[in-house]
Amino acid sequence: MLLRMRSITKQFPGVKALEDVNFDLFEGECHALVGENGAGKSTLMKILSGVYPCGSYEGEIFIDGEQKCFYSVKDAEKAGIAIIFQELSLVKELSVAENIFLGREPSRFGMINRDLMERKTQEILQDLHFSIDPRTPIGELSIGKQQIVEIAKALSKQARILLLDEPTSALTESETETLFEILKKLKKRNVGMIYISHKLEEVFSISDRITVLRDGKTVKTDLKENLTKNQVISLMVGREVESVFPKISHSFGDVALEVKNLNVYDTEAPNKRILKNISFHVCKGEILGIAGLMGAGRTELLRAIFGDWNGKVTGEIFIEGKKVTINSPLDAIRNKIAFVTEDRKRYGLVIEKSIFENTTLASLKKFAKGFVTDKIAEIKATQELMDSLKIKAPSPFATVENLSGGNQQKVVLGKWLLTNPKIMFLDEPTRGIDVGAKREFYFQIDSLAKQGRAIVLVSSELPEVLGLSDRILVLHEGRITGEFLRSEATPEKIMQAATGL
Ligand SMILES: Nc1ncnc2c1ncn2[C@@H]1O[C@H](COP(=O)(O)OP(=O)(O)OP(=O)(O)O)[C@@H](O)[C@H]1O
Ligand SMILES: [Mg+2]
Repeated sequence: MLLRMRSITKQFPGVKALEDVNFDLFEGECHALVGENGAGKSTLMKILSGVYPCGSYEGEIFIDGEQKCFYSVKDAEKAGIAIIFQELSLVKELSVAENIFLGREPSRFGMINRDLMERKTQEILQDLHFSIDPRTPIGELSIGKQQIVEIAKALSKQARILLLDEPTSALTESETETLFEILKKLKKRNVGMIYISHKLEEVFSISDRITVLRDGKTVKTDLKENLTKNQVISLMVGREVESVFPKISHSFGDVALEVKNLNVYDTEAPNKRILKNISFHVCKGEILGIAGLMGAGRTELLRAIFGDWNGKVTGEIFIEGKKVTINSPLDAIRNKIAFVTEDRKRYGLVIEKSIFENTTLASLKKFAKGFVTDKIAEIKATQELMDSLKIKAPSPFATVENLSGGNQQKVVLGKWLLTNPKIMFLDEPTRGIDVGAKREFYFQIDSLAKQGRAIVLVSSELPEVLGLSDRILVLHEGRITGEFLRSEATPEKIMQAATGL
């Protein structure tokens, strides 16, 4: 037995995150850890990786039968444990190589040996089939690419136990496949892996055993062969789950948003167009899905319309038939556009503030009472959101930083729902959200459309785009290469358009 965690209990102020949890791992095994948002998965991994030091939890950890006590992440690393965190933890200002070797830079005569560091980085990245200049600053990479750098960083530590906390939430299908190839290689080298994911297809494809956590307790550990997806879902949520998608039947109103001949230029290379002659519209009451591979320009399209693009943008935007100028996100909000972003850390949340301060951030005007804000109304509205979106937290006063990843994403959504937008941009809105909450969320989106809001949905999860959209646009290398009505869209047609065939 490579790893055994016994009777782990972890208490936060007001929250028992883990209670008497047992978990073990064999050499060369991939053991999946699943459960709803807030079930305690990340907390268990943070205990194992030394983020929560010995003494801050109850229970015991054994590696190769020997009891261990980690006081820091470094300690755990020495014992061969590496973790890929759920939230990206790279330093934006540093280069790829500097991030990978942060704190363990190869040096000669007290000087950092940059050449060696960059060469080693190149080797690791090549192993991952990922070509990128090791000197590129992390901040310039897309989230997906940053995620791969995180993985490269963990791999470079020669870990015997690798913890992956939702590693693929920002990866494309082909990147995920690459990752799985690597994980299979590591398995052969006897590395043990703990794999956390809300994507059950992945869990069933890569894992040997599955453990389900619910409300901080282990409810099941078994071989994958002995479980079905539906069983796992029921174990996670503690009840049977009905169909995931609402029955979509929307009646459209007038055109809410129209974009004509939009061209978006690269921020670095001002002559390079990353979006070319984009024209489309979305009606009141319609859900317009935008599909495409990573790098196709989907996020850039939303950001450009939202006034959140640093490079040049040309073209025309009409809202309810009226031409508008949007130069900043504030202009966009004034025009009743809301934007639920994919990167909650960067644009979505003020992490050190409370839930209610975050949810009301974009709609403070609504809560104004003379020169002050009506705190009671703010808190009441937040409590309602917490109930309807099932945000798991002790109260509206809880700090967002202390919420589980999925619950943070729900706070972002709630914030924009309170602005009462006419047009909603959703960029990978369900990333990191568990199956049960996803369903809640889909029904919310559906009812928003039924209230006459125009929804633009970007998602890398094809079932999500197909299941929710009335109409689907496909982007490929900055151009629209396909448009399908709900009734005619199939995964094959969309993939063909997305790959430019
Ligand atoms: N630092 C903290 N302070 C207070 N409460 C915390 C802290 N970290 C986590 N919690 C709480 O502990 C519980 C478990 O959180 P955890 O992050 O482990 O969930 P998770 O299973 O990883 O969920 P997700 O799928 O959303 O990532 C949640 O109720 C969360 O709010
Ligand atoms: Mg988590």
